[in-house]
Amino acid sequence: MLVQNATQIMTLDEFTVHQLRLFPHATGELSHLLRDIGLAAKRISADAIKAGLVGVLGEAGLRNVQGEDVKKLDVLANEQLIAALRKGVSCAGVGSEESDQVLIFDDHKSNQSKYVVLFDPLDGSSNIDNNISVGTIFGVYRRTTAPGSPATDADFLQPGTRQVAAGYVLYGTSTMLVYGTRRGVNGFTLDPAIGEFCLSHPDITCPSNGNTYSINHGNFFQYPAGVRHYITDIQRWNEFNPDSYTERYVGSMVADLHRTLLKGGLFLYPGTKERPEGKLRLLYECNPFAFLFEVAGGLATSGPSRILDIIPTKLHQRTPLFIGSKEMVTEVSSYL
Ligand code: AHG
Ligand code: MN
Ligand code: MN
Ligand code: MN
Repeated sequence: MLVQNATQIMTLDEFTVHQLRLFPHATGELSHLLRDIGLAAKRISADAIKAGLVGVLGEAGLRNVQGEDVKKLDVLANEQLIAALRKGVSCAGVGSEESDQVLIFDDHKSNQSKYVVLFDPLDGSSNIDNNISVGTIFGVYRRTTAPGSPATDADFLQPGTRQVAAGYVLYGTSTMLVYGTRRGVNGFTLDPAIGEFCLSHPDITCPSNGNTYSINHGNFFQYPAGVRHYITDIQRWNEFNPDSYTERYVGSMVADLHRTLLKGGLFLYPGTKERPEGKLRLLYECNPFAFLFEVAGGLATSGPSRILDIIPTKLHQRTPLFIGSKEMVTEVSSYL
């Protein structure tokens, strides 16, 4: 358990260096990687908080590999993350929601790096123009190919269990960076006065149960019968036990899952008749959160299987997602 007093609020860099002291064999490469991601996050945050004034609202006039209309802030966030990771010395390449293929940083120094990063540079894009919280999501893997040569596609198609770290940034009322390794999940709040992410939420754990469920009700009649049955059972229970459950849905995965991680609850993005695989992407949305929730004591499934066990075959493949408090995920799984 970390002890810090008010005058010694630990910054993200101090925290990762502290971790190095605990694990002498650590090379510091992961610390550098997290610092690079934190730098990109600060730059994205600086634009997001004054979006309307710096011309980053609205469409970029592009359509991405997902078939989505790309927002200007999608493009900016993608460029910031690629630039920060390419300039660093800890990343051999990236896979991004906004890039059709993986991006291999094929230069001498990057080829020596042992990590690759998958990210959703800007999550919740439909909310940008309404000034509703958006985020960034990332997952870090050790390469399966030997450092020294360029990374390959195979380095990016690993099951989520192989992540060495994962996290997200929430551009909300405050800007927070939350990341986890197998040793725990910790939250850092950006202090604009010093331009540093500072430890504000040490040792985050997900409550084993909760009373909030989070789903897009607009698709109700598109969902599988088990999902509809689970929802109506909750609503029936609420009818005779008022306020037992509540429903919250922001439409930004990072905002919905940050609330679920801290307060407990269940987030559902099921498959539908039209999209049996659901909407959310396995590699850079579901796997990072599944890793964080499991480290924090929660669960994450696709319905039939544990998210982290899914062996990916494509960079942008999708999966249904049921994630949150252990008891709520276990319960909804019994309906599926
Ligand atoms: P992105 O903006 O990165 O494309 O992701 C949007 C995702 C996710 O943030 C959210 O949970 C989901 O889309 C909302 O989808 P619906 O609007 O279909 O509910
Ligand atoms: Mn998108
Ligand atoms: Mn997203
Ligand atoms: Mn996105």
